[in-house]
Amino acid sequence: MLDNVEDIQGKLLGNTLGREIVNLDLAIDISDEIFTHIKLIFRKNPVLIFRKQSLTPREYADFASRFGKIRPGVIEKYKHPEIRDISFLTNVNADGTVDEFGVTRAAAWHYDGSFDEDPPFLAMLYGIEVPSHGGGTLFSDMYRAYETLPLDLKKNVNNLTTVNQFGLGPSGRDYFLGLKPDRWEKYGPIKRPLVMRHPWSGQPYLEFCMIHTAGFAEMTFGESEKLLRELEAHVSKEENIYYHKWQPGDIVIWDEHATMHKNAGDFSASERRIMLRAMIDENK
Ligand code: SIN
Repeated sequence: MLDNVEDIQGKLLGNTLGREIVNLDLAIDISDEIFTHIKLIFRKNPVLIFRKQSLTPREYADFASRFGKIRPGVIEKYKHPEIRDISFLTNVNADGTVDEFGVTRAAAWHYDGSFDEDPPFLAMLYGIEVPSHGGGTLFSDMYRAYETLPLDLKKNVNNLTTVNQFGLGPSGRDYFLGLKPDRWEKYGPIKRPLVMRHPWSGQPYLEFCMIHTAGFAEMTFGESEKLLRELEAHVSKEENIYYHKWQPGDIVIWDEHATMHKNAGDFSASERRIMLRAMIDENK
């Protein structure tokens, strides 16, 4: 445990994202002073990693709710049986067989709740069982992705509006074909500027999602598809990303505006990958 808040700075693991905070046991009641310090670090570092944690699901939910109100997941099957606000991210069914959805789930760049009117502000995952090889989560820096766009592309994207609707993005269409149509009716279409300003920093960043962004209001389907693929290639560049290799006990927190994330899709379905997930609305 830390005596001094200044010891919490941590070190940056990726080129631009992924600050690792060590020596902090989140199961011990952390003081308001330390928590305020964590939040300050988080404002400047949109992906934070806490190692070697050992929290009960209740303690995990309590930690998550210090950031704001937890928003329950939308898929009933994965909700924690007692603590309904948090959900499992798992590739294992209750009977021990492989959950195929859990293997390939979220394997395209996205931010959570892009199909919602008011997406959550941050989210976190807690690694319980993780594959011995691969099984990572990729994060891309949306500030940097905007900043480093080639000039001609930057000029074009500034005035575009994304149209977001459940499962209708380039990587969502095939994937969600089997879902019941009520999902499509329940959500969207929601329009937002492609280039947004972050409410904390005021800095511009790109906001789109390969799973649920169907296209741009100002473009045809074909033009939208081409641009989304160009943007996807840009955000996937080495210099924009951080690959998180999971260790059991890791808790990773990310800012949903300043980053996109995805399941790296690089693990064998025979290896168990079980995490607890929380999405959170910011305390206003
Ligand atoms: C998610 O989108 O929260 C899941 C990412 C992952 O499976 O690594």
